[in-house]
Amino acid sequence: MKKRLRGAPPPMKLDDLPRHEIPALDGNNAPIDREDVFEDLPVIGEMPTDFAGLYVRNGPNAYYPPDWRYHAYDGDGMLHAVRFDHGRVSYRNKWVRTAALGEEQAAGRALWKGLKEKFRADRPDEPLKNTSNTDVKYHAGRLLTMWYRSGLPYAVDPFTLETLGSADYDGAIDRISAHSRPDEHTGELMWFDYSLQAPYMRYGVIGPDRKPRHAIEIPLAGPNLPHDMAVTEHYTILHDFPLRPDPEALAAGRYKVQFHPDEPSRFAVVPRHGAASEIRWFTAKPAYMLHVVNAWEDGDEVVMVGTPYRLHESEPGRIDVRRLERTINQRQRDFLLYEWRFDLKTGQTRERVIDDVLNTEFPVINGAYQGRRNRWSYHVVFPPGGREEPRFPGLVKYDLETGGYIAYSAGPQFFYNEPGFAPRDNPRSEDDGYLVSLVWNPRERQSEIQVFDCLGARLAEGPVARLPLPRRVPNGFHATFVSQRTLDRWK
Ligand SMILES: [Fe+2]
Repeated sequence: MKKRLRGAPPPMKLDDLPRHEIPALDGNNAPIDREDVFEDLPVIGEMPTDFAGLYVRNGPNAYYPPDWRYHAYDGDGMLHAVRFDHGRVSYRNKWVRTAALGEEQAAGRALWKGLKEKFRADRPDEPLKNTSNTDVKYHAGRLLTMWYRSGLPYAVDPFTLETLGSADYDGAIDRISAHSRPDEHTGELMWFDYSLQAPYMRYGVIGPDRKPRHAIEIPLAGPNLPHDMAVTEHYTILHDFPLRPDPEALAAGRYKVQFHPDEPSRFAVVPRHGAASEIRWFTAKPAYMLHVVNAWEDGDEVVMVGTPYRLHESEPGRIDVRRLERTINQRQRDFLLYEWRFDLKTGQTRERVIDDVLNTEFPVINGAYQGRRNRWSYHVVFPPGGREEPRFPGLVKYDLETGGYIAYSAGPQFFYNEPGFAPRDNPRSEDDGYLVSLVWNPRERQSEIQVFDCLGARLAEGPVARLPLPRRVPNGFHATFVSQRTLDRWK
């Protein structure tokens, strides 16, 4: 069993930072081998006492040292949770105990390899390990961990991080994708999944009682790759971008995506509990996007804002397809802030760039505004990049109405994980709260929790509080912030 600590051992030294020839295992990408609890963390600066809630981040953390060509997406899911309680802050971490990890622990070794290796032919039920390492959301009193390629989600106790088991909702769900979306107002969870075989996409709703409420198949022509979905108060928007796996590579057991610039982007707008026959299809310019910022209804229009990849032209009027595919396949960062407006009356789409100056992703909003018109979003900002080491040096607050922004960058080697928006007690506006994030601080050579005041332009002043952790938190993927109000609802 892994070590469990209480209290804070001395901070690690620079020499402790692992070195590995595979970038995904090097430096602060390297996995850790411990589950810890650190309580009453020390504060540098001033820790606000007017908010409470839970920030949780998921990410890959290989349980067994990988002896294969490791890909950054291969590691077993590990949750890092920071509990804020009016100035007191504690941290804990645990692996998600997936079925596959359980099999490996019973065998005492890794039984699956990763994305860059041949998938397991002897396990048609799980040729690639469902690590549940990608996303984490809170629904009906439990955390749900999800995998970007669609798999059974796992339910986790939000306070202890114990895995409660896979969440199949009375057998209604055999897989869902990352980025299923809870609605804090109704307590529902909207989910989708996708597959290389038909049905290529399904969509459904789980009620606040954790009972399945609704499920339909979304008729797609082929295995186009979605990554996220959007919800408004009454509608759900599902994505059909012209990007899919290269069939030749797939037949050879490899995975590589191809973009088809002669096909439009398509969006299925369907009433939240609507039948497949009620889907309204909208077309838009060819694009590919990972993450949605938010969506809402505005008169006859359904509005969706997100961060699609920036499209460059190889010659005037012609998309540089190779460049886009390279950017996606090599996990480079080159994004815009963009808006689509789907007119339910005319069936037409209007679209526009909100901002193409900054390069940002991992958008989060005040969760109370999910599906409702909102003004502010918070993103991780990247430098314009090529193949060099991923750099996530700061945070941005966007004004979605004007395209204006306030940015804070700590310096080249800092790494900001996806933040969470923590509303202040009795908030007076959408941005009345804090942005919290797990950060790798290269200057102090430590992982920290950082807290920014979000009101107005205060983000640019830097963190109001920094809470150093006594050991590293490896860089990871998605995070969520669960407000105290939402935690209390499910007590
Ligand atoms: Fe994602």
